[in-house]
Formats: sequence, structure tokens, C-alpha cells
Amino acid sequence: MARDLTQLELLQELEPVAAANVDRHLSMAKEWHPHDYVPWDEGRNFAAMGGVDWEPGQSRLSELAKAAMITNLLTEDNLPSYHREIAENFSQDGAWGTWVGRWTAEENRHGIVMRDYLTVTRGVDPVALEQARMIHMTNGYASPKPLGEAIEASFLYSVAYVTFQELATRVSHRNTGKVCDDPIADRMLQRIAADENLHMIFYRNLCGAALDLTPDQALESISLIIQHFQMPGAGMPNFRRNGVLMAKHGIYDLRQHLEEVVTPVLKKWNVFERTDFTARGEKTREELGLFLEKLERDVVKFEEQRDRMLAREAAKAERDMATVS
Ligand SMILES: [Fe+2]
Ligand SMILES: [Fe+2]
Repeated sequence: MARDLTQLELLQELEPVAAANVDRHLSMAKEWHPHDYVPWDEGRNFAAMGGVDWEPGQSRLSELAKAAMITNLLTEDNLPSYHREIAENFSQDGAWGTWVGRWTAEENRHGIVMRDYLTVTRGVDPVALEQARMIHMTNGYASPKPLGEAIEASFLYSVAYVTFQELATRVSHRNTGKVCDDPIADRMLQRIAADENLHMIFYRNLCGAALDLTPDQALESISLIIQHFQMPGAGMPNFRRNGVLMAKHGIYDLRQHLEEVVTPVLKKWNVFERTDFTARGEKTREELGLFLEKLERDVVKFEEQRDRMLAREAAKAERDMATVS
């Protein structure tokens, strides 16, 4: 049986792939500037500078759009933690170091532009937002490692996670843009989503190369990540409440997770068609297959519950209207 590669061996073997993908990324990435996406003429001073402080009536965003914007922004704000995770697992050497720096600089734009937009348009309470940012960043983020699982090469685990996570944030930003009901916000979030897509492609290519290099070992990390996947914002204030709201209204729900994130990536890697696994990889693939079948059943269950909940809410709203009139 082929032995597992160490973290160092993986990074060395895959460095040329990383170099080629850094070049690919740089040739595809478009330069853009956060200030071009913010309607500055809507801005005015807050009370500390003789103006008026924020109040709920100033926001044009729905409760749903607010929850989604805050969740996505706080996730972007936690960049120092993600930088640490990626830098530790990918190393700072050669193309790996170039990528870590470039990726971090690109991600920083996302938080800058979203905060500028929300502050200038008074979309959310800036004091509550700042308090939530302080709590979230102080807690930091550590990638969720399944208890009891010894991961020999954390690079594999990390690269599999960020592949799915970048695609998940792409979906979430894209759908948040649609519910903001503001073409400026939609354009800004489309711009961010395009970045997330390019990031996903980098990580997906690297993880795909790892799968070719050491199929059984890589699939074990991929399978673990899929079975324990959590959105990166876990732990932020109101994460559950906002997550439920976003799932309820199709910004990021279980079907999107399965059909727009997990399935297309596994397809790209040919996970269910490839013939280079040994018995160990076959066993992992079988477990993964069973997990995905269960996820499919959970999707149906979730949607049935959601339909019932939305119908109940609609009926209640109708009753309330009747009482008022
Ligand atoms: Fe981002
Ligand atoms: Fe990203």
C-alpha cells in the first residue's frame, strides 16, 4: 500500500502546480477599486461631527438583506484568522507564499467595499456592526477539525475546505446582491463573487492535483471536510439566527450547498469515476456516497419544513391584515 505523503512532501511536489496557478490567477484577475462601488454622494456626517446618528428608518435594506450583508461582511472581516490558517498550512515558501499574500490582499477589498457601502448608505447600524466585528475578530477562527480524526497533512484538509468555502461565499454574496433591491449593492456583490470564484478555482485545481498525486489520502480529507462542513462565520453574533433566515429565503440553503457547491466540485475532480483508488480510497468513496445520499434526503426534508413555515407565516400575515382593516 502506498504510504501517505507528509505535509512537506505535498508542498514540495505541488509547488510547480501552485506556481502555474498563481500565474493563471494573475492573468485572469481584474484590477478593481472599492471606491468605484460606493455611492459617496449619499453620505453624511454622524452626530460626533454635527450630523445625525443612525436610526432604523434610514436603511433601505430588508431585515433579510441586513442579516445577509452583516453575515457576509463579518466573515470577510475575520481575514486575519483565515490568513493565519492558510499561511500555516500552505507555508510561505515560493509560489505558496506569493499566493498567500496575493489572496489576502484581494480578500481585504471585500471587507473594505462592503463596509464603505453600508456606512455611506446607512444600510445597517454602524455601532452594532462595529460591536459584532470586535466580538467576532476577538474570538478568531480555527478550521473545524473533526474530533478524534488525526490529520497527518493539514494542507489537504485546508485546501479541501477552502475550495468549498470560496464557492459557498460566492453563492452567498451573489444571492445577497439579489435581495438588496439596490443595483449598486448588486453590482458590488457580483464583483466580490467573481473574485471568490477565481479563488475557488485556484484551490480546486490544487486540491485536484493533490488527488492525482495521492488519491486515497486526499479523498479522506475531502470526505471529512464535506461531512463536517460549516460556513466560516460560525460563532459570530447571531450566526444561527441569520443563517436560518438566509437558508429560509434561499441565500444559502442546503440544496444550494449540495447542488451548487459540493456536487460540481466533486464532478470536476471525477471523484465517482476515477480508477486510481486502492481499497482504502474505495471505502472512503463509498462512505462519501452514502453521506451525499443522506444529504439529498435532508434537502427534501428541509424544503418541506420550509414550505410549511412560509405557508404558516403567509397565513398569519393575512390574518393580521384582516384584523387591521
Ligand atoms: Fe471574500
Ligand atoms: Fe475568496
